Amino acid sequence: MQNFITLAQIDEAAQAIKSRISIQPVVGIILGSGLNGLADSVQNPVYIPYGEVPHFPVSTVEGHAGRFVIGELEGKPVLVMQGRIHYYEGYTMQQVTLPIRVMQRMGIPNLIVTNAAGGVNPNFTPGDVMLITDQINFVGMGGLNPLIGPNFDEIGFRFSDMSQPYDREYADLARKIAKEKGITLQEGVYTGLSGPSFESPADLRFLHMVGTDAVGMSTVPEVIIARHGNMRVLGISGISNKANLDGSTITSHVEVMEAGKIITPKIETIVRGMLHVM
Ligand code: HPA
Repeated sequence: MQNFITLAQIDEAAQAIKSRISIQPVVGIILGSGLNGLADSVQNPVYIPYGEVPHFPVSTVEGHAGRFVIGELEGKPVLVMQGRIHYYEGYTMQQVTLPIRVMQRMGIPNLIVTNAAGGVNPNFTPGDVMLITDQINFVGMGGLNPLIGPNFDEIGFRFSDMSQPYDREYADLARKIAKEKGITLQEGVYTGLSGPSFESPADLRFLHMVGTDAVGMSTVPEVIIARHGNMRVLGISGISNKANLDGSTITSHVEVMEAGKIITPKIETIVRGMLHVM
């Protein structure tokens, strides 16, 4: 059997963070590529680089700072991940999702996940934001489910329910906030791939056919682990580029980062609104 991260190691990481903060965060927030800005608004911030947390992998991607920012947003104690860990960096699925396990052991009951994604739904335009209503675990279906390995019975069941990955009540609240603030909120299914290459036109036509609205390289494993531990999840994708179903344009990381500038204020408004009800 492979070497899996143990609950004792997770607790060591959780303890290392707890020892450096004096608040109890109630919401974990993961910021996707180009969406780092929100972390700068955190009040009374404590910064903890991932490299200073035992057993933590370090994010290596441009646009991902790789640290926790812990403090208050809208008066709510939050733990923000400025940058996430991706499977394509070469880490195991357990390492990729370790931050979620740590949140669970810190007693954080809510998770807001954001990401940059390619718009597969032809009605989406770069700069749009999409409420994630469900997800397709493309990587996990092929054998890379992050729950593979010994089950943590203290946290959740061996065969974890995934009938409601994204909390319906939170989704309704997000719709309401977007409407009040005049933000057009698209909705749909997020499909998680491994990356790091972007999709070929045939990949994208396939993903479209099976019901994908937005495609990206993250989020799905995190949400599986979050639900295993019964966290309530809100997911928002920033549509950074139009998926290129006919091969006529090129997708680049620069494009993803640029769209982030338009998307960030919209996501920030929704997240701020949500913090009042979480
Ligand atoms: N494909 C996969 N991941 C992405 C994309 C995309 O087009 N855009 C941003 N992340």
